[in-house]
Amino acid sequence: MRRITSLTLQDIRSYAAFQAPLTGRSVVITGANGAGKTNLLETLTLFGAGRGLRGAKLSDVVRVGATGPAGAGITLSHNEDEPVRLVVSIPPPRFDRREVKIDGEVTRSASALSELLRFLWLTPAMDRLFMEAPAERRKFLDRIAAAGSSAHAATAARYEKAMRQRMALLEQGGDPALLDMFEADMVDAGIALSLARKSTADGLARGYEALRQQAFPRAHLFIEGDVELLLAEQGEDQARLSFAQRLQRQRRVDRDARRTLFGPHRSDLIVTHEEKQMPARQCSTGEQKALLIGLILARASAAKASADGSSLILLMDEVVAHLDHHRREALAETLHGLGLQAFLTGTDLEPFAPFLADMDQLQPPSPD
Ligand SMILES: Nc1ncnc2c1ncn2[C@@H]1O[C@H](COP(=O)(O)OP(=O)(O)O)[C@@H](O)[C@H]1O
Ligand SMILES: [Mg+2]
Repeated sequence: MRRITSLTLQDIRSYAAFQAPLTGRSVVITGANGAGKTNLLETLTLFGAGRGLRGAKLSDVVRVGATGPAGAGITLSHNEDEPVRLVVSIPPPRFDRREVKIDGEVTRSASALSELLRFLWLTPAMDRLFMEAPAERRKFLDRIAAAGSSAHAATAARYEKAMRQRMALLEQGGDPALLDMFEADMVDAGIALSLARKSTADGLARGYEALRQQAFPRAHLFIEGDVELLLAEQGEDQARLSFAQRLQRQRRVDRDARRTLFGPHRSDLIVTHEEKQMPARQCSTGEQKALLIGLILARASAAKASADGSSLILLMDEVVAHLDHHRREALAETLHGLGLQAFLTGTDLEPFAPFLADMDQLQPPSPD
């Protein structure tokens, strides 16, 4: 498994300059409220495809008052391979773009990065996931899908881009041949996206099996959406044709609505507490949290078995303190069994007792 063996920050969030002492083991980060624990996790996700753990703009990630280049660097180690050095810089004065270097070479492809490193995270902001609008669950679904496939983020981006291009062209009253082309792209990427989401949902059952833990309830995932329905009813080939026809038929309607009214960008993820046969939305707050933890663990387990599954790193922000003793032990044991590098945070060290046997401890420095 790949492991982060060094982390340095320069003008990121609350850190002017910081070098975190890491060894490659999992890490327990403790500190008072506002100490900078989540900031560290967020910094790691600067190395992921897409937006980071807070979904924030890059200019917000840069330390307030910074004038010089901001950024972070990590060393990624993998078994006996030569470690890889990854650097993200966010250049002034606008701090609005990310430059990524892999071993000193600038890379423009997000997929090069996601072949090396992918993150799966659970944060307090996700506590309301099942009550949110579908968009949040869709993002979550795409994140967990991307955890097992370096291609997923690129497919999602390709779909979004084709959809934007089509909409721009519709608004200008553009060339039908170009519209056909953008729609063909949407169909291609959109079907791939839906299939990958479906296989993520299906693969979860295997993940739960492999984990053999009882402490966290099993979730069942169902993806509700236009293209998912076409795929289920018609099979892939016919679904392609139907999706393309639908887009073509809908040009005028979409233009008037100024958004695309049909496609996998509108799907929703429906999660059910399997044992209780209860929609997650109607489960208690504690049950929802336990479902999410189980889901992340099952996904990590399934992803580990995939082709580029060695690149996964888990981030669990403020998860442990809310668990009872039994569940803490189960989480520690499961993480140990997964063998992935995990970064856990909490205000106090005490709840981490079951974890510390094979994890390092890190405390953000005090601000002066
Ligand atoms: N861009 C920024 N520049 C400087 N400080 C920031 C920036 N963004 C957030 N902070 C500070 O970081 C602190 C929060 O850090 P965080 O990692 O969320 O704490 P916690 O340890 O509770 O997880 C707050 O004090 C906040 O003001
Ligand atoms: Mg925090």
